[in-house]
Amino acid sequence: MSTSTVIALCLLAVLTVQIDAQGSPTDVALRWAQEEVNIFELIAREKLPPTNAAQSDANELVDSLKMAISHCNIALQSSGNLTQHEACVKSVTTFAKSSLAEVASEHWAIYGASSGASRIHLFW
Ligand SMILES: *[C@@H]1O[C@H](CO)[C@@H](O)[C@H](O)[C@H]1NC(C)=O
Repeated sequence: MSTSTVIALCLLAVLTVQIDAQGSPTDVALRWAQEEVNIFELIAREKLPPTNAAQSDANELVDSLKMAISHCNIALQSSGNLTQHEACVKSVTTFAKSSLAEVASEHWAIYGASSGASRIHLFW
């Protein structure tokens, strides 16, 4: 093997490792979408009162968001359009957050009335 071949192979190995570590732009977008779901799940648990009814609504909202985002992901995998994927994920996440705000205010009203507790909530 010539020196230049060895150098070329090393370079290729380094590049491959870098690409593996970062993933393709599609992989990065898919990971970001998953992060959005995880963050929403945390927020939903925290924004809703600790009653079974409220937490079960939180689960439903999270499931709906997961389903909506999986549609965005499927579209990304077939089109490779990252711009479209980002817009899709943002719009379903925004919708989920506004639904959460609405559901949360209903549940806190019920919770506050039954427990005598009151709480000020801030939404996005
Ligand atoms: C990707 O999607 C965006 C928004 O839907 C659209 O404007 C753009 O033309 C698409 N790009 C390609 C390469 O299809």
